[in-house]
Amino acid sequence: MVVKINITVIGTGYVGLVTGTCFSDLGNRVYCVDIDENKINALKKGIIPIYEPDLEKLVVKNYEKENIIFTTELEISLTNSNICFICVGTPASDDGEADLTAVFEIAKNIGKLMNHDMIVVTKSTVPVGTGDKIKSIISKELKDRGVEYGFEVVSNPEFLKEGTAVKDSMRPDRVIIGSDNDKAIAILKELYAPYVKNHERFIIMDIKSAEMSKYASNAMLATRISFMNEIANICEKTGADVNQVRLGVGSDARIGYSFLYAGCGYGGSCFPKDVKALIKTGENVGYTPKILKEVERINQNQKYVIINKIKKHFGDDLTGLKFAVWGLSFKPGTDDMREAPSIVIINEILKAGGSVKTYDPKSMELSKTILPKDNVEYVSKRDQVLDNCDALILVTEWNEFKSPDFNKIAKTLKSPVIFDGRNQYDDEVLSKFGIKYYRIGR
Ligand code: UGA
Repeated sequence: MVVKINITVIGTGYVGLVTGTCFSDLGNRVYCVDIDENKINALKKGIIPIYEPDLEKLVVKNYEKENIIFTTELEISLTNSNICFICVGTPASDDGEADLTAVFEIAKNIGKLMNHDMIVVTKSTVPVGTGDKIKSIISKELKDRGVEYGFEVVSNPEFLKEGTAVKDSMRPDRVIIGSDNDKAIAILKELYAPYVKNHERFIIMDIKSAEMSKYASNAMLATRISFMNEIANICEKTGADVNQVRLGVGSDARIGYSFLYAGCGYGGSCFPKDVKALIKTGENVGYTPKILKEVERINQNQKYVIINKIKKHFGDDLTGLKFAVWGLSFKPGTDDMREAPSIVIINEILKAGGSVKTYDPKSMELSKTILPKDNVEYVSKRDQVLDNCDALILVTEWNEFKSPDFNKIAKTLKSPVIFDGRNQYDDEVLSKFGIKYYRIGR
């Protein structure tokens, strides 16, 4: 394949590494830059810092083909490229506002180091107005250097999901390009074209609307989840069943079925942080986003729904009781533990005097660094967790937990009871096995 476009991607986290790798797989030459030398050295050896299906083999393949260059040298990378993607993290500060330190530092370095015209693309999730700030930072640096290179700042938010990141990048629902510069728009379209066969999927808009679209999308999805969790909580008190309600509601073509699953709360690095940052954006301009504040509050409370059910069943004091926990990551398909409901549930069990035995297909090593060491035992097989436990809690709906051997569960648990935080099982089936079954929203 002929090398097409030379690209710099700054930041080798979820977004940067996946984006860079997918562009390189099209035959482009991609400089993946990170300040973390250890991470860059590991990547050169094919060691991927995150678990993401298909990513490792694509990285190794394209590194061997020299389509990807892993480096800490921003200057060399910029010299060799005409387009540069900013893909660094924008974590929540203490007050919820997105911390843009890394983004602005990079903008400064781009201004200091660029030695020809450049398209600077923001893929990091940044509050509305950040593109303008990046523009002024780069302009100031160029002015201080007394040079006059042309540059365009474009917003190109990323919508990939953890667990399906490669697939999402190679088959995006849409590619938003926030820019008013025809040349920059044309280059980005050319770059994405092989992955966007249906060109209606390109959406061109102004830079601020592009920045806002990202937050609005995540906030909308988080709102749907908190909304259904609220409906679930009302269902529990009225005798309705949220599983049935989901079907009744989702069948309306205007609503649709996705992201209407009640559960033990959303987690991950994005929804919690982006909802908080959008609240802050509103407050900064004198507007209080009331719905979003409730979305966030409902989600915090939802992480306690399972523990409340456990205490209702066993009593507040869980001393002497051992709980089997299936799943630790914030959702299936990833080892990411950020804001995972499992952290709250396990800590609450320990606080009430209980102990935990757990298994997760991907995130046990990471969990050992996050969860308390005492009274948390890790085992390497799904059914091994059940031995000597009083109850089973399903926290993350990995495929291997979806149709377990209920006979074995009924025989192994001391008092067969399942607390299901993801509504995976059938009430009637479980009652046939003599298993007491608690789930969300019924
Ligand atoms: C989310 C968005 O879905 C992506 O489009 C976006 O690009 C990404 O954030 C980001 O901003 O980078 P992600 O955090 O990987 O992606 O996870 P999701 O698949 O969206 O799930 C988020 C949480 O919602 C999980 O904890 C999941 O268990 C929960 N969830 C999801 C529910 O509780 N109910 C549902 O019906 C769906």
